[in-house]
Amino acid sequence: MTCQQCVGIERQFDDAVARRELKRYRRKGPSKMTRALLEALAGEGAEGATFLDVGGGVGALQHGLVEAGAVGGTNVDASPAYLAKAREEATERGYAERVRYISGNFVDVHHGLDDADLVTLDRVICCYHDMPALVDTSASKARRAYGLIYPRDRRLTRLAIGLLNFVQRLRRHPFRAYVHATEAVEARLQAHGLRRVYLRHWMLWQAAVFRREG
Ligand SMILES: C[S@@+](CC[C@H](N)C(=O)[O-])C[C@H]1O[C@@H](n2cnc3c(N)ncnc32)[C@H](O)[C@@H]1O
Repeated sequence: MTCQQCVGIERQFDDAVARRELKRYRRKGPSKMTRALLEALAGEGAEGATFLDVGGGVGALQHGLVEAGAVGGTNVDASPAYLAKAREEATERGYAERVRYISGNFVDVHHGLDDADLVTLDRVICCYHDMPALVDTSASKARRAYGLIYPRDRRLTRLAIGLLNFVQRLRRHPFRAYVHATEAVEARLQAHGLRRVYLRHWMLWQAAVFRREG
């Protein structure tokens, strides 16, 4: 991958992080935010649905969607280590052959990919500098609904992410996190014919589901 942030992502989410995260997931299951998003997506009809999970990590959303009746789909991740762990867990659960695993920057690899009923980005937008490109390319693939978790656009989040980036700079680590304006994210999704039907806030994060109109 060529972009500077993609190099940072690969280093940030390396083998050790992916191994730790899968261990945590196996012990505790999805985070409360991911659980909330899964419930909201189930309300849009997970039974028989296909998914496109961008930046799926160890696959918490994919495993949850398959438990809720999804038939399979695609997982695109800029972290090869995370992609391998998502596949490992899906293999363990007996459904890996129903998922296409693609390593790379979604913005670069989206062209050949099928549309999906449910498109998801759980804490992904905050890891990528070019929000318009990531949202436009992923939203165009959503047949039925688009679910995402991303940072709230408020002073506290900007402070937390500013501190994180400051430490990253001191460590000379290329990965940076971003707080993209909620209004700008929502405007792009609306321009793709997606209307917000679910919103939930936590201190730093928000989960939203958008449904395709018509
Ligand atoms: C903070 S992790 C979240 C992982 C998982 N969704 C979760 O909530 O546990 C961010 C994920 O987004 C992926 N990512 C960020 N930007 C991406 C892009 N442009 N294309 C593909 N994956 C991306 C990273 O590789 C990583 O897997």
